[in-house]
Amino acid sequence: MEPFAKVGDIIFIDPDDGSVELAPHDLWREDTWVGVTKLVVGDRVVVEIGGRLRLFSNSLAEPLRAGLTVEGTDSGILGILSEKAIKFLDDSTEDALPERFIVPSNENLSFEDFGGYSDIVTRARELIELPLKYHDALNEIGARPIKGVLSSGPSGTGKTLLARIIANHADAVFYAINGPEVLSKWYGQSEEIIRRIFEDAKKRERAIIFFDEIDSLASQRSDESHEASRRVVGQLLALMDGFSPDTNVMVLGTTNRPQDVDSALRRPGRFDWHVDFPIPTKRDREAILATSGRKLRLKEDMPHLWVADRTESWTPAELAAIWTEAALLAVSDGRRALLPEDYIGGYERVAKQRTGSRG
Ligand SMILES: Nc1ncnc2c1ncn2[C@@H]1O[C@H](COP(=O)(O)OP(=O)(O)OP(=O)(O)O)[C@@H](O)[C@H]1O
Ligand SMILES: [Mg+2]
Repeated sequence: MEPFAKVGDIIFIDPDDGSVELAPHDLWREDTWVGVTKLVVGDRVVVEIGGRLRLFSNSLAEPLRAGLTVEGTDSGILGILSEKAIKFLDDSTEDALPERFIVPSNENLSFEDFGGYSDIVTRARELIELPLKYHDALNEIGARPIKGVLSSGPSGTGKTLLARIIANHADAVFYAINGPEVLSKWYGQSEEIIRRIFEDAKKRERAIIFFDEIDSLASQRSDESHEASRRVVGQLLALMDGFSPDTNVMVLGTTNRPQDVDSALRRPGRFDWHVDFPIPTKRDREAILATSGRKLRLKEDMPHLWVADRTESWTPAELAAIWTEAALLAVSDGRRALLPEDYIGGYERVAKQRTGSRG
């Protein structure tokens, strides 16, 4: 027979009839904390928890050192969460300031640098640039504001590049937030950072808040390990719902897996507009090749069509990589400008890497 209870279980004993009952596991569950080890002396450990120092004895099987992120309860340390110390926000944590998330605008970046995909460019400008530029006019008309746009598509299809070009062109301050990074580096404080970024953005004349890999924050899964990301999504939704008519902020999210994005994010007034970046067609490929080689020093006309013909299913990032390989071939041959043979050689090299990486 299975034993009734294990060591450490809590049981109730009825004083009248002496019957015994197992208490539910979460009864009197102690609050957990997250902290950083500061000093280890023998089996005694000083842990900084929310700015306060506390002393514990190491009850773990493994030795501890200073600078680890650990979790525990009042009774002791339960385990190591990370080999690195997480950071806590206070006024001295400069790298959490909203300004640190601003990507400086690049004067040299324009729509000329974005090849092909003309329908997508038009649609994205309509959804992102027009609302930012004509914020007041749209308000006067009384249109429901566009607050969030989700862009999806495989890696390397230009989602980030186009967003940055549009921000430049619309003269908008561009905040870039990487989903996984903000979660791991600022464990437990990500909501606060996001709140500060939104506060900062609202003060600007125009701003774009760009969430890369938003699916990593806002996935449909809802088990306990995703508690932190669910809190972040809750915060994000509350902030977007709380935009006042004066707020001229557009929130962009990118994902490679739109099906994984929490449906709460897709509701009206949130990320309810969508731009899809597909794998380029042959015509797009030709334009992307010409565009991405535009600033290079070329000796002769380049056979873009020849390359476009042979690069079915390639992403724009892979096409752009051809030029880097071509330049390497040219310099290794002692030249200072590209010849068509470098271009073709570059294509062959990237083609080989692609088949290699796909097994
Ligand atoms: N339409 C395009 N024209 C020219 N070059 C492009 C285009 N799209 C992408 N590229 C090139 O590919 C690189 C990667 O693009 P980008 O970072 O925007 O992809 P992404 O869709 O954001 O990918 P990920 O999902 O991995 O973040 C760009 O820096 C640029 O060199
Ligand atoms: Mg990107």
